[in-house]
Amino acid sequence: MATTPSQRLANQVALVTGASSGIGLAVAKSLAASGASVVVNYIGDAASANAVVADITAAGGTALAIQADVSKEDQVQAMFRQTIEHFGTLHVLVANAGIQVDAAFADMTLAQWQKVIDVNLTGQFLCMREAVREFLKRGVQPEISKAAGKIICMSSVHEVIPWGGHVNYATSKGGIMELMKSTAQELAPKKIRVNSIGPGAIKTPINHDAWATPEAEAKLLTLIPYNRVGEPEDIGGLAAWLASDEADYITGQTIFMDGGMTLYPGFATGG
Ligand SMILES: NC(=O)c1ccc[n+]([C@@H]2O[C@H](COP(=O)([O-])OP(=O)(O)OC[C@H]3O[C@@H](n4cnc5c(N)ncnc54)[C@H](O)[C@@H]3O)[C@@H](O)[C@H]2O)c1
Repeated sequence: MATTPSQRLANQVALVTGASSGIGLAVAKSLAASGASVVVNYIGDAASANAVVADITAAGGTALAIQADVSKEDQVQAMFRQTIEHFGTLHVLVANAGIQVDAAFADMTLAQWQKVIDVNLTGQFLCMREAVREFLKRGVQPEISKAAGKIICMSSVHEVIPWGGHVNYATSKGGIMELMKSTAQELAPKKIRVNSIGPGAIKTPINHDAWATPEAEAKLLTLIPYNRVGEPEDIGGLAAWLASDEADYITGQTIFMDGGMTLYPGFATGG
């Protein structure tokens, strides 16, 4: 029997950064299937972003693509202005855009360090601040949601698992943990919920080499007790639920969705 997707985000407006590929794309589609009007942010790939908008529209949803580099304050502010002009307000931000620029620690240039911090951490700060300004201005609309606004930061298992060779990335995700928790603490009295999703290994372009061949996937699976690599849709479903009133009492938390990667799998047979 066919099932109808829940309309748990009906009449809400959501903005997803880095939504032209991977996890952001799946999150945008999932939020739209749950009834939200969705802004599909992208940095360079307009054709892919427009394809996401077309898919959402074909499925009966509403979406708009907006280009912005999340690490640039003026571009972020212009994107939020355009969102609010077009849809009237904003209820949900999924700060998802992120990059890896890998190097051995001794070889890491300041530019490699700074680029990852600028996009992964400062980019989330800039988007969250604009979202919070709108949430505070508008307040709770009880007929739409119990909260004035919901923010989901895309973190990683690497907010808690150290990652040699990727120190800039792991540092950015560790920073997101305190960005998320501190804003959640400050803004809970204003009925703004802030949480993170910490994906484990999910099949997307960012980690293509880690799962693209059977040999690479087998090696990756040694880190995943549940014995499958995650799909972007896994994260999409969680994001829609976490943004909804079904999760209204959750704030300041990272929900790891990782098939058990954070369970120290090496200790299953040792220690
Ligand atoms: N795939 C995984 O296994 C995994 C695991 C943990 C966390 N994550 C996190 O999930 C998020 C999404 O990554 P993904 O796996 O879908 O990879 P991805 O490369 O498909 O997605 C990243 C997106 O961010 C966009 N982006 C990059 N720089 C940007 C900028 N300055 N402004 C706006 N957009 C920008 C890219 O164009 C891309 O669409 C990232 O924050 C990543 O760290 C992914």
